[in-house]
Amino acid sequence: MGPQGCRVASFAVGRFYVTTPIYYVNDAPHIGHAYTTVTADALARWHRMLGEDVWFLTGTDEHGLKVAQAADANGVTPREWADTVVQRYRDVWDLLDIAYDDFIRTTEPRHYAAVAKLLEACRAAGDIELGTYRGWYSVSDEEYITADEVEEYRSRGRNVIEMEEPNYFFRLSRFGDRLLEWYERHPEAITPETRRNEVLGFIRQGLQDFSISRTSLTWGVPLPWDPDHVTYVWFDALTNYITAVGYADDDDRFRTWWPAARHLIGKDIIRFHCVYWPAMLLSAGLEPPADWHVHGWLLVGGEKMSKTRLNQIAPADLVADFGVDGYRYHFLRDPSFGPDSDFSYEGMVVRYNTDLANNLGNLLARVATVVGKSCGGIGPAPSPDAPLAAVVTEAYATAAEAWAAVQPSVALEATWRIVRETNAHLEAHEPWKMAPGPELDRVMGDALEALRVVAVLAAPAIPRSAQAVWERIGMSGAVAAQRLPDAAVWGGYPGGCTVTKGESLFPRVRA
Ligand code: MSP
Repeated sequence: MGPQGCRVASFAVGRFYVTTPIYYVNDAPHIGHAYTTVTADALARWHRMLGEDVWFLTGTDEHGLKVAQAADANGVTPREWADTVVQRYRDVWDLLDIAYDDFIRTTEPRHYAAVAKLLEACRAAGDIELGTYRGWYSVSDEEYITADEVEEYRSRGRNVIEMEEPNYFFRLSRFGDRLLEWYERHPEAITPETRRNEVLGFIRQGLQDFSISRTSLTWGVPLPWDPDHVTYVWFDALTNYITAVGYADDDDRFRTWWPAARHLIGKDIIRFHCVYWPAMLLSAGLEPPADWHVHGWLLVGGEKMSKTRLNQIAPADLVADFGVDGYRYHFLRDPSFGPDSDFSYEGMVVRYNTDLANNLGNLLARVATVVGKSCGGIGPAPSPDAPLAAVVTEAYATAAEAWAAVQPSVALEATWRIVRETNAHLEAHEPWKMAPGPELDRVMGDALEALRVVAVLAAPAIPRSAQAVWERIGMSGAVAAQRLPDAAVWGGYPGGCTVTKGESLFPRVRA
């Protein structure tokens, strides 16, 4: 019997509410969308292993002109269109083992109720007023643009239209000082720091009111006091983060989870998330979220993915070649969370073969082979004073800090240090040449213990493979049920467990 279950933390150490952007339903999900979602999923899994109360929210952004037009082009109603595309998202998240706690759709009644409540609160505060919108709108970006920007947008193939109509405006221009003051008091709220500076620079330039409603469109949430208008896109979309935790229907729940939210977002949407959103919340008398973690683009051949460039990559195509965990590992380990990074198939093959097939896969296979041959298939216990113990302690400290800072690549690099050092430990002792006895048992017990810790620390990134490693070294139960930090302390492998050599966990992939 393994040690799982004996070391469950007896108190809740904290709360972790993590969100992804809600994705537009006018596009098929690609590796860029999956990047944010896989990162959020791994973080949620890590925090669950810390024994925290975790709430992981993702979903879809279903209103707006783009969706209405996509539906039209396909000869269906916007709702029918949304129902079709939302399924594509759910399927991809299932394929990638995304264990979200809630999937929100902006077309749900609970969301309409929350948007109405937030609108009323902002209006009561005097921050929503009727005006006339005259100007330019990029349908492709769901964004109002200035006359100066029209040519540039059109040159990029964006669909830009001119419009004039009564709109309600959110008085963002009143919030500059309050936002600056809030950010002053919360210096760590936006990472990386370059993005924080970008946000502060934008606020300091002076803020413009923004339109939150339209009359020329019906595919949105009607304004409670003037239902000829619908709100859609940003006011609508951002509200999802409070809808999902009970803003309109469950005060206790809302108090539990808000404002603990941690928003993961791509750099394209920081203005909306880090300027509009906290201003909307402050207007309604609510606290802005805990923090925003902003990442760069995944580029393909140095370029942003787009429909027009025909360079969008579907996660399923890569999962077919690398498996689910091969996929997850790559996007968590390869790009550093923050800057842009170039994706290449060749790079993915190299990393997969090096880290998974060679380093981890071989380590497991070697250990299982030697234990099978020379220890009668029973894994010996580790030694308390093994040199690998220090490697594990250090790796855990680095990994824990990195997961806390939303740096999965750093956390996994630290975790793989254990794998490399354990391979080196085997090469130094050559247990395959040793006769059975205490010396061999010591070498193999230490390697098994290192593998146990690797399974624990890698579980948020590669849940299936971590479970397989766990079972093959003879541990029972779910590796994901292990509690950190205790499960990462050297010495947890009890010895006397049956070790099995199964099929190769990570078959090599050819470029
Ligand atoms: N619906 C809005 C977000 C509303 S949130 C309240 C939206 N949707 S989107 O479908 O365009 O998704 C945007 C998000 O997808 C980005 O912020 C980013 O998280 C992810 N990505 C889309 N393409 C990407 C890359 N090429 N690279 C990395 N992530 C990108 O904007």
